[in-house]
Amino acid sequence: MFKKKLFALGLAAVMSVGLFVGCGAKKNEAKENKTLTVYCGLMQDHMIKAAKEFENETGIKVEAVRMSSGEILGRINAEKENPKASVWFGGPADGFINAKEKGLLDAYVSPNAEKIPAMFKDAEGYWTGIYKGYLGFVSNEVLLKERGVEKPQTWEDLLKPEFKGQVVMANPGSSGTAYTTLATVLQLMGEEKGLEYMAKLDKQMKTYTKSGTAPGRMAGQGECMVGITFLHDAIKYKEEGMKDITISAPVEGTGFEIGAVGIIKGAPEMEAAKKFIDWVLTKEAQEIGQTVGSYQFLTNPEASNPEQAKQIEDTKLIDYNFKWAGENRGALVEKWNEAVKK
Ligand code: F6P
Repeated sequence: MFKKKLFALGLAAVMSVGLFVGCGAKKNEAKENKTLTVYCGLMQDHMIKAAKEFENETGIKVEAVRMSSGEILGRINAEKENPKASVWFGGPADGFINAKEKGLLDAYVSPNAEKIPAMFKDAEGYWTGIYKGYLGFVSNEVLLKERGVEKPQTWEDLLKPEFKGQVVMANPGSSGTAYTTLATVLQLMGEEKGLEYMAKLDKQMKTYTKSGTAPGRMAGQGECMVGITFLHDAIKYKEEGMKDITISAPVEGTGFEIGAVGIIKGAPEMEAAKKFIDWVLTKEAQEIGQTVGSYQFLTNPEASNPEQAKQIEDTKLIDYNFKWAGENRGALVEKWNEAVKK
């Protein structure tokens, strides 16, 4: 009942993979064992498939809501006195590190986390990495040709006059992808110069989207020349028919995400949440994404990376500082807001 009300209050983008169980002590007990509410940062098709597989294996029904990272962070903060969801599934680790700092996550060291290399997980078990994604540029080949310009190869290239009003990225406040972009630029250029750069980039923008996957789709549909996004999402769109997509990554180096999973503090379905964490770390669960076009690199060394990811495996990465990015998220988004206001 309570959860039904929550939906009526406007939970957008609900992927109904399971049904809620009503109230009453006996039913609550059943719910704890048989349902799991997940806030999810993955592509919708990936989430639905993962939820179905998990349900097939455990009998636990997953009710999942797709949101961007900043939205999930805001939601679990707003609900901290009375958490509605038990698991945060997918989205860059920066958001999880920030949530840990704010006391919004519960620690759980899954026995299956042992296999995951140390760089992909929190030592105390507040979050564990499930995939890795590289940031880059998604351009529309037809529009590039029309304007007689090459696809961008450096961060500076985005400031070319040909790209004025033609660049799209998401808002770093709502999107984990866009926050990775902001943190990457500040790490590469230093805080002051990086914010100056973001202010210049703002003048090139067509729009800022809410979700980080949207800019690639817009470039693919010819609604802008360049989107800044994770490259695996661009590969998916191209494969799905947006044939004018061409990808590149800044030669000086680019940032990357460790996509993570963690348990929300005070999770109402704790036992099911732990089972879910155990399951998503397995080779089988990690390999589900590539069956529906999610082409991130995987963190379980036994899992096979998608063939499609090979084309970007030589991308030059920066030594992205997740701790710094996570701990300074609020302050940096604020500074970015100030910089682009001018
Ligand atoms: O699921 C696709 C994806 O790019 C993930 O790799 C990433 O963690 C997530 O979306 C980021 O979404 P957003 O930028 O909307 O927070």
